[in-house]
Amino acid sequence: MQTDSSFTFVLFGGTGDLSMRKILPALFEAHRAGGMLADSGKIVAVARHVADRAAYIDWVNEHVKPHVSKNGVDETAWASFLDRIEFVKIDLGNPEDFTLLRDALSGRPGIRVFYLATGPSLFVPICHALASVGLNENSRIVLEKPLGYDLKSSNAINDAVGEIFAEEQIYRIDHYLGKEPVQNLLALRFGNVLFEPLWRREWVESIQITIAEELGVEARGDFYDNTGALRDMVQNHLLQLLSIVAMEPPHSMDSDSVRDEKLRVLRALKPIDPRDIGKVAVRGQYHAGVIRGNAVPAYATEPGVKPDSTTETFVALKVEIENWRWAGVPFFLRTGKRLADRVAEIVVNFRAVPHSALGASALRGGANRLVIRLQPNETIRLYCLAKQPGEGMNLASVHLDLAFDRFFREGQMEAYQRLLLDVINGRLALFVRRDEQEAAWRWVEPILNEWAASNKPPKPYAAGTWGPAAASAMLAQHGTCWLEEEN
Ligand code: BG6
Repeated sequence: MQTDSSFTFVLFGGTGDLSMRKILPALFEAHRAGGMLADSGKIVAVARHVADRAAYIDWVNEHVKPHVSKNGVDETAWASFLDRIEFVKIDLGNPEDFTLLRDALSGRPGIRVFYLATGPSLFVPICHALASVGLNENSRIVLEKPLGYDLKSSNAINDAVGEIFAEEQIYRIDHYLGKEPVQNLLALRFGNVLFEPLWRREWVESIQITIAEELGVEARGDFYDNTGALRDMVQNHLLQLLSIVAMEPPHSMDSDSVRDEKLRVLRALKPIDPRDIGKVAVRGQYHAGVIRGNAVPAYATEPGVKPDSTTETFVALKVEIENWRWAGVPFFLRTGKRLADRVAEIVVNFRAVPHSALGASALRGGANRLVIRLQPNETIRLYCLAKQPGEGMNLASVHLDLAFDRFFREGQMEAYQRLLLDVINGRLALFVRRDEQEAAWRWVEPILNEWAASNKPPKPYAAGTWGPAAASAMLAQHGTCWLEEEN
């Protein structure tokens, strides 16, 4: 991924958590790898509570360095990375300060990237202030999630940003789209003939997509309590994964071909009838429990969370797609905090053989299953039945294993690194287009509204389990179970 195009990467929220944990470490990795970032490219951090560049560099040394390169920092690369960093002190509440930024950027070659690693309430004021000093030309703007709270507020932000930046200048980040195994899913589906004939209702019985976390809400209790799992994970990450699993083959990998196909899936999601919500949606909230031997407190006692909070920390949904490929195939989506394990995976359960001469075990649904593990330990496993050695014809489940780190020893890239390089190089395919975002909000809104209107609290689950029993019961109604319940 060589580049010779210069850039200036302006980081708003330069001392924020995201800058510290993800953005600056990802830029460092791209720098360290060599050849990915133009030598002349600069990073301009913007913050209010830091006196000057020297103080900012001190902050980067103290807070960012611990998050880079698990195997130790390459000190020479680190020193030259710091040389790329400049600093402008701006009070975002004071639009006149933006003249300082304009002066700092004047005469620089290449594209300008404005990364808004700030709360969404600052997106529109920052865009206005950038436009007021003419910085919206020859530039790209990156918006972090959450982009809005519902369809209306997301439209309001998109309308306001859209008056200042054209859609091709707007990069809405969903970091799940930058994960290597998600890219591999595209390669698997559209680079092989094996799967395409089977990737449809005739051969697929059900699909599960799980993003389970062991972590709780950490220091974000206040934010999370006003957000909940449906907004934080389903509206974006899970629906994006779903659209990639279910989309039609695009005619090319250019940004709009891929995004057009994803959009078609999002628009084909069967609307949720509020009367059915109890059957197709489960919401839960964790109580105190034990994870890997450590006691963890209940959600309602976390700092920043209201003691009588009804915010969901777990969601399980049954989703249907109304098109020829997928009619009648249930997609089960699930996400939660403080679950038994940290795992993100997609499970495609194929139908049973129509007739078995080999005995009943070959007639079981789920004998053939594709499990795409996104994290940790990225693997793709194809489960089949094989004959057990020895006398008789007894079948057992075996799997073909594709462990990426065995085939590709180098070159694995963190999601943020890939996405930041894509912004700098003007590749939009892995960013969410406005119409996709709208379609996703439109679909989740009836669930949000119904839960807000309901006087039923979320179902409790103990931290360290797989969520409320109702999530298992929902699958049992369809004669199936979550993958971890198989054994
Ligand atoms: C973020 C959510 O978008 O994704 C967090 O806001 C969540 O609540 C995180 O923890 C999960 O991302 P990952 O890459 O660690 O699975």
